[in-house]
Amino acid sequence: MALRKIRINDDPILRKKSRPVEEFDDRLFTLLDDMRETLAKSDGIGLAAVQVGVLRRVVVIDLGDGVKELINPSIVESSGEQRESEGCLSLPKKYGITLRPKNVTVRAQNRNGVWCLYKGTDLAARCFCHEIDHLDGKLYTDVLAPGEKVYIASDE
Ligand code: NI
Repeated sequence: MALRKIRINDDPILRKKSRPVEEFDDRLFTLLDDMRETLAKSDGIGLAAVQVGVLRRVVVIDLGDGVKELINPSIVESSGEQRESEGCLSLPKKYGITLRPKNVTVRAQNRNGVWCLYKGTDLAARCFCHEIDHLDGKLYTDVLAPGEKVYIASDE
Protein backbone atom coordinates (compact mmCIF):
# COMPACT_ATOMS: atom_id res chain seq x y z
CA MET A 1 0.00 0.00 0.00
CA ALA A 2 1.07 3.56 -0.55
CA LEU A 3 -0.08 7.02 0.34
CA ARG A 4 -1.28 9.04 -2.61
CA LYS A 5 -1.05 12.79 -2.94
CA ILE A 6 -4.36 14.59 -2.49
CA ARG A 7 -5.09 17.17 -5.18
CA ILE A 8 -6.23 20.46 -3.72
CA ASN A 9 -7.75 23.86 -4.42
CA ASP A 10 -7.64 24.91 -8.08
CA ASP A 11 -6.17 21.66 -9.44
CA PRO A 12 -8.15 21.33 -12.71
CA ILE A 13 -8.57 17.54 -12.36
CA LEU A 14 -11.06 18.17 -9.54
CA ARG A 15 -13.50 19.57 -12.12
CA LYS A 16 -13.26 16.59 -14.48
CA LYS A 17 -15.80 13.79 -14.87
CA SER A 18 -14.65 10.33 -13.82
CA ARG A 19 -15.18 7.26 -16.01
CA PRO A 20 -16.92 4.05 -14.91
CA VAL A 21 -14.81 1.14 -13.67
CA GLU A 22 -15.07 -1.82 -16.03
CA GLU A 23 -12.19 -4.04 -14.95
CA PHE A 24 -12.23 -5.39 -11.39
CA ASP A 25 -8.55 -6.22 -11.42
CA ASP A 26 -5.33 -5.79 -9.45
CA ARG A 27 -5.00 -2.18 -10.56
CA LEU A 28 -8.38 -1.41 -8.97
CA PHE A 29 -7.44 -3.29 -5.78
CA THR A 30 -4.19 -1.31 -5.49
CA LEU A 31 -6.09 1.95 -6.02
CA LEU A 32 -8.65 0.99 -3.34
CA ASP A 33 -5.94 -0.07 -0.86
CA ASP A 34 -3.99 3.16 -1.45
CA MET A 35 -7.16 5.25 -1.09
CA ARG A 36 -8.01 3.49 2.19
CA GLU A 37 -4.53 4.23 3.53
CA THR A 38 -4.62 7.85 2.31
CA LEU A 39 -8.06 8.38 3.91
CA ALA A 40 -6.94 6.78 7.18
CA LYS A 41 -3.97 9.16 7.37
CA SER A 42 -6.20 12.18 6.76
CA ASP A 43 -8.83 13.71 9.00
CA GLY A 44 -11.57 13.11 6.46
CA ILE A 45 -14.46 10.64 6.23
CA GLY A 46 -14.49 10.15 2.47
CA LEU A 47 -12.20 10.18 -0.54
CA ALA A 48 -12.94 9.97 -4.27
CA ALA A 49 -10.36 8.63 -6.75
CA VAL A 50 -10.27 11.94 -8.62
CA GLN A 51 -8.87 13.51 -5.45
CA VAL A 52 -5.76 11.37 -5.85
CA GLY A 53 -5.61 12.09 -9.58
CA VAL A 54 -7.41 9.00 -10.92
CA LEU A 55 -10.49 9.70 -13.07
CA ARG A 56 -12.39 6.53 -12.17
CA ARG A 57 -15.74 6.22 -10.37
CA VAL A 58 -14.33 4.94 -7.08
CA VAL A 59 -15.02 6.22 -3.55
CA VAL A 60 -13.96 5.12 -0.07
CA ILE A 61 -15.92 6.21 2.99
CA ASP A 62 -15.16 5.73 6.68
CA LEU A 63 -17.88 6.89 9.05
CA GLY A 64 -16.39 4.95 11.94
CA ASP A 65 -18.28 1.71 11.28
CA GLY A 66 -15.87 0.13 8.82
CA VAL A 67 -14.53 1.37 5.49
CA LYS A 68 -16.97 1.21 2.58
CA GLU A 69 -15.66 0.84 -0.96
CA LEU A 70 -18.10 2.20 -3.53
CA ILE A 71 -17.44 1.52 -7.20
CA ASN A 72 -19.64 3.09 -9.88
CA PRO A 73 -21.96 4.51 -7.17
CA SER A 74 -25.19 6.38 -7.79
CA ILE A 75 -27.97 7.75 -5.62
CA VAL A 76 -31.13 5.79 -6.39
CA GLU A 77 -33.42 7.36 -3.79
CA SER A 78 -33.36 10.49 -1.66
CA SER A 79 -35.74 12.26 0.68
CA GLY A 80 -35.90 15.17 3.08
CA GLU A 81 -33.49 18.05 3.36
CA GLN A 82 -30.62 19.07 5.61
CA ARG A 83 -28.64 22.25 5.91
CA GLU A 84 -25.32 21.40 7.60
CA SER A 85 -21.61 22.14 7.57
CA GLU A 86 -19.34 20.40 5.05
CA GLY A 87 -15.65 20.37 4.30
CA CYS A 88 -13.41 18.59 1.79
CA LEU A 89 -9.86 17.20 1.89
CA SER A 90 -9.29 18.98 -1.44
CA LEU A 91 -10.30 22.37 0.00
CA PRO A 92 -8.19 22.46 3.17
CA LYS A 93 -9.11 24.78 6.03
CA LYS A 94 -12.44 25.73 4.50
CA TYR A 95 -16.04 24.80 5.16
CA GLY A 96 -19.52 25.76 4.09
CA ILE A 97 -23.18 25.09 4.82
CA THR A 98 -24.76 22.99 2.08
CA LEU A 99 -28.23 21.87 1.16
CA ARG A 100 -28.45 18.07 0.85
CA PRO A 101 -31.09 15.36 1.14
CA LYS A 102 -31.51 14.03 4.69
CA ASN A 103 -31.76 10.40 3.56
CA VAL A 104 -30.23 8.68 0.56
CA THR A 105 -29.98 5.18 -0.82
CA VAL A 106 -26.85 4.47 -2.85
CA ARG A 107 -26.28 1.63 -5.29
CA ALA A 108 -22.66 0.69 -5.89
CA GLN A 109 -20.43 -2.24 -6.76
CA ASN A 110 -17.93 -3.68 -4.32
CA ARG A 111 -14.38 -4.68 -5.32
CA ASN A 112 -15.70 -8.01 -6.58
CA GLY A 113 -18.14 -6.26 -8.90
CA VAL A 114 -21.21 -7.22 -6.84
CA TRP A 115 -23.95 -4.57 -6.66
CA CYS A 116 -24.93 -3.52 -3.11
CA LEU A 117 -27.32 -0.98 -1.58
CA TYR A 118 -26.34 1.42 1.20
CA LYS A 119 -28.64 3.68 3.19
CA GLY A 120 -27.42 6.88 4.81
CA THR A 121 -29.00 9.53 7.02
CA ASP A 122 -27.67 12.93 8.13
CA LEU A 123 -23.83 12.86 8.06
CA ALA A 124 -23.77 9.60 6.07
CA ALA A 125 -26.19 11.06 3.49
CA ARG A 126 -24.04 14.20 3.17
CA CYS A 127 -20.94 12.11 2.77
CA PHE A 128 -22.45 9.85 0.06
CA CYS A 129 -23.69 12.91 -1.89
CA HIS A 130 -20.39 14.77 -1.47
CA GLU A 131 -18.24 11.87 -2.71
CA ILE A 132 -20.51 10.98 -5.62
CA ASP A 133 -20.52 14.65 -6.66
CA HIS A 134 -16.70 14.47 -6.88
CA LEU A 135 -17.08 11.85 -9.63
CA ASP A 136 -18.89 14.43 -11.75
CA GLY A 137 -16.40 17.21 -11.05
CA LYS A 138 -18.61 18.88 -8.46
CA LEU A 139 -17.49 20.29 -5.11
CA TYR A 140 -19.58 21.20 -2.06
CA THR A 141 -19.01 24.84 -2.94
CA ASP A 142 -21.42 24.22 -5.87
CA VAL A 143 -24.28 23.22 -3.56
CA LEU A 144 -24.06 25.82 -0.80
CA ALA A 145 -27.37 26.57 0.89
CA PRO A 146 -28.99 29.80 -0.36
CA GLY A 147 -27.28 32.84 1.12
CA GLU A 148 -24.25 30.83 2.29
CA LYS A 149 -20.57 31.28 1.40
CA VAL A 150 -17.31 29.42 1.95
CA TYR A 151 -15.72 30.12 5.34
CA ILE A 152 -12.07 29.89 6.31
CA ALA A 153 -11.58 27.62 9.33
CA SER A 154 -9.53 29.11 12.14
CA ASP A 155 -6.51 27.15 13.40
CA GLU A 156 -7.71 27.15 17.00
NI1 NI B 1 -14.44 16.22 -0.92
